[in-house]
Amino acid sequence: MAVLPVEIPWQQLFEAAELARQRAHAPYSKFQVGAVILCDDGSISAGCNVENASYGLTVCAERNAVGAMVMGGKKPVAVAIVVDSKEPTPPCGMCRQVLAEFGASELPVGSRTVSGLEARWTIAELLPHAFTRSFL
Ligand code: THU
Repeated sequence: MAVLPVEIPWQQLFEAAELARQRAHAPYSKFQVGAVILCDDGSISAGCNVENASYGLTVCAERNAVGAMVMGGKKPVAVAIVVDSKEPTPPCGMCRQVLAEFGASELPVGSRTVSGLEARWTIAELLPHAFTRSFL
């Protein structure tokens, strides 16, 4: 049976990520991030960054989206991030590791600025030689 490439609805994902970004709690950095995960059942799990007065407790948008996905018992098909920055930003190192836990190495990650610049990677490009359960 032929495996057909999955068409990722990036536009729709970025629109959802922008809505998530607008919910960010980022009073300290003022850097609002929205992230959504397109899940294997076609649904979307969203997250925003949530900062804390104890700065180190901040949780990134991507990891909050992963938490929502796990709560729904789903698997990731694609990740979309929206930031208000001069260029599209990839997920931080901690979020790459968390995404690698749940996604295949080809998991597509897209990022867009509010001004409309876009970039795409796979999680393997962002985190080569990831530490995974295969080592345990
Ligand atoms: N942030 C994210 O939400 N995702 C990333 O991948 C990078 C950084 C957040 C954390 C913090 O609230 C703000 O952006 C500035 O670092």
